[in-house]
Amino acid sequence: MDWQTIDWKALERLRSAFLDGTAGARDYWRNDRDLESYDQTFGQRIRWKWDYVLKDLQRRGWEPPRAEAVDWGCGTGIAMRAFLEHFGAEPPSKLVLWDRSPVAMQFAARKAREVFPDISVWLDRPSDHDFGTLLISHVLTELSDEQVVELLGLAVHATSVIWIEPGTHEVSRRLIAARERLRGTFQIVSPCTHQAACGMLTPENDRHWCHHFAPSPPEAFTDGNWARFARLAGVDLRSLPLSFVVLDKRQQPTQSDAVRVIGRPRVYKAHALVLGCDVSGVNEHRHTKRNQPEEFRRLKKGDIPAYLPRCSAG
Ligand SMILES: C[S@@+](CC[C@H](N)C(=O)[O-])C[C@H]1O[C@@H](n2cnc3c(N)ncnc32)[C@H](O)[C@@H]1O
Repeated sequence: MDWQTIDWKALERLRSAFLDGTAGARDYWRNDRDLESYDQTFGQRIRWKWDYVLKDLQRRGWEPPRAEAVDWGCGTGIAMRAFLEHFGAEPPSKLVLWDRSPVAMQFAARKAREVFPDISVWLDRPSDHDFGTLLISHVLTELSDEQVVELLGLAVHATSVIWIEPGTHEVSRRLIAARERLRGTFQIVSPCTHQAACGMLTPENDRHWCHHFAPSPPEAFTDGNWARFARLAGVDLRSLPLSFVVLDKRQQPTQSDAVRVIGRPRVYKAHALVLGCDVSGVNEHRHTKRNQPEEFRRLKKGDIPAYLPRCSAG
């Protein structure tokens, strides 16, 4: 990480484009310095989210298909690099990096080759043939509904899809809509513990959204440059909210009957209320100090597990 090379003015311009809704309308990447500055800041935060999701997939023994991997809307290619670094022991046969910005595709290709010099990299709009893994990262805020439908048309040609987005209400709701469209074609690997319709879609869950928190590494709290970035970007470095979905056409192991924790539990003196998702839907679960002392202690410390054993709803 070389903070001397960061173009803070470029980051401000990018942030404005992300916030004022113009990012979808036109290509905002001007040059390599824009991309390098993004890659080391916004991109790093996205990388920590990818690490969280990919580590969880590795922990449960999931492996990507060895066939071609596509990073759609690649930007600096941070998603592809994270994917290669986690699963690169058996690298995909070919990488496809696609973005509306040619300068971004070139940058992403260079970075991928730094990690895997021998890998075959293509910079092209993915065609309608079957391929291995589709990576999608932080594009939904820039796409119209019609563009999302087009992207889903590509997704059905993949064997597996790993899709990570910001953890906001609006984006999570769009991702849930995509999950519902793809549910008949794929099995859902994560974060859902079931294959049924998303429990967020009931009227009583309208105000909720499916989001989780990835951990930030220690330097995010101790390095003054990260503090400067946080002020500029208007983000809280302690909190890395994400929405994601992982889909696969291959047979998946039977899922546990644990409850997937959503968002942050509300912890009181002697009990915690956890919004949890399982096959019965999205419900609030009560964990008490008395009946679940171990879980309660973790929650009290702010240690949010991905899953909790099922206990009383209400
Ligand atoms: C916020 S950046 C995210 C980049 C990268 N995926 C990441 O996670 O860091 C969104 C990217 O989507 C690209 N993009 C936006 N609309 C697109 C479209 N219609 N087709 C292809 N790429 C698009 C932008 O050029 C930009 O690189």
